Amino acid sequence: MLIRGKATLNGQIEVSSSKNAILPILAASILTDSEIELAKVPKINDVTIIGTLLEQLGKQISKQDKKMVLSGKVISHHPPYDLVRQIRASVLVMGPLLARLGKVRVALPGGCAIGSRPIDLHLKGFHALGAEINLRSGDLIAKATNGLRGAHVYLDYPSVGATENVMMAAAMADGLSYIENAALEPEIVDLANFINRMGGKISGAGTNVIKVEGVKEFKGVKYVPIPDRIEAGTYMVAVAATKGEARINNVIPEHLKAVTAKLIESGAEVIENRNHVEVRRVSKIKPVYIKTLPYPGFPTDMQAQFMAYLSRAQGSSIISESVFENRFMHVQELCRMGADIKSEGKIAIIKGAKKLTGAQVKASDLRAGAALVIAALMAQGNTILLESQHVDRGYEDIAAKLNAMGAQIDSEP
Ligand code: EPZ
Repeated sequence: MLIRGKATLNGQIEVSSSKNAILPILAASILTDSEIELAKVPKINDVTIIGTLLEQLGKQISKQDKKMVLSGKVISHHPPYDLVRQIRASVLVMGPLLARLGKVRVALPGGCAIGSRPIDLHLKGFHALGAEINLRSGDLIAKATNGLRGAHVYLDYPSVGATENVMMAAAMADGLSYIENAALEPEIVDLANFINRMGGKISGAGTNVIKVEGVKEFKGVKYVPIPDRIEAGTYMVAVAATKGEARINNVIPEHLKAVTAKLIESGAEVIENRNHVEVRRVSKIKPVYIKTLPYPGFPTDMQAQFMAYLSRAQGSSIISESVFENRFMHVQELCRMGADIKSEGKIAIIKGAKKLTGAQVKASDLRAGAALVIAALMAQGNTILLESQHVDRGYEDIAAKLNAMGAQIDSEP
């Protein structure tokens, strides 16, 4: 990806549906054989990979522009390793497969660029629901030969994936389940709404205690996932970083309170409307302190993008990454562009630099890639972003969307 510097982003941009809402919803389609129709599905690689995985399990999937239709019964309980290793979200098929087939065999998720990311809390939940868990030559095998039964599941950490996986497993368990210390993310609420529309009985999603009453069968539904709050936040930061003025459409402002607050603190103006926000910078970038936290705290998925923006602040900012243990891979790449950042453990100190200059840099993961795009738009000169396929995993048409606002990005230089 080739990105020309000194861009100013003005105009309008449309946010796509949430990657992190759609991926668990796709997994939840395993809970029924009936037809599920999802609208406004973004063309991003993570959706393609999960779609292929579901087809390998036995689902029929048809796509027509942004509409995705899934139907049919899963017949395999063992998703293929070559797909599982490509995307951590594939672990989300474990709960639904356990619920539907009473067993699942899946390769242990490999670590990825942002840390080891174990699934111990997922397994603790399945075990509480009556599943027997074994490890066999690198694969996890979970079995519930007599079916799952409702239980109290306490999550040591409000893990998004564990909350989603346990919710999906409990949705067909015999009796009542309670997930305590559950994650509060909007994507959890969207998944619960989707399952309830299929006939599920889930209450409390969005709070830290979720009650799930198991049901025997689900029906087909049509559903539109929520907008992607991280894509929206990324573009809000990009507009502020390039001293532009723009309207970000298809946004739920409530989902972005922490990002909006930090943008305003840093010297931007954010006007919240019913389903869009307007952003513009009204002063030089002011340094801020950020600590990433589970929702509704500042999202870890916005940490890299904010760091790029703060690399041109008038002073030093501090970022504490409390969610993942290794989510500063973008620091060294930003420093190659002239940023002055020191990171040690979970803390990074960003000393505002006079300028950034274009360079050849590499994306290590999705959000680090987005951060480097923002830095490249601010920099003097051109930037070549290597491994930019990471960005395409979660940002639909990012080059076209930013070019429509005045950027000059060539996806295939
Ligand atoms: C989801 O990942 C998102 N992915 C991530 O977005 C996001 O960063 C993360 O939640 C936190 O908000 C999807 O929704 C597909 P977690 P997930 O379980 O579920 C530890 C992006 O850029 N943990 O809440 O994997 C874990 O190691 C991606 O879109 C355990 O220790 O996140 C991490 O330190 C990146 N044991 C912390 O909890 C477990 O069993 C948060 O992980 C599970 C998690």
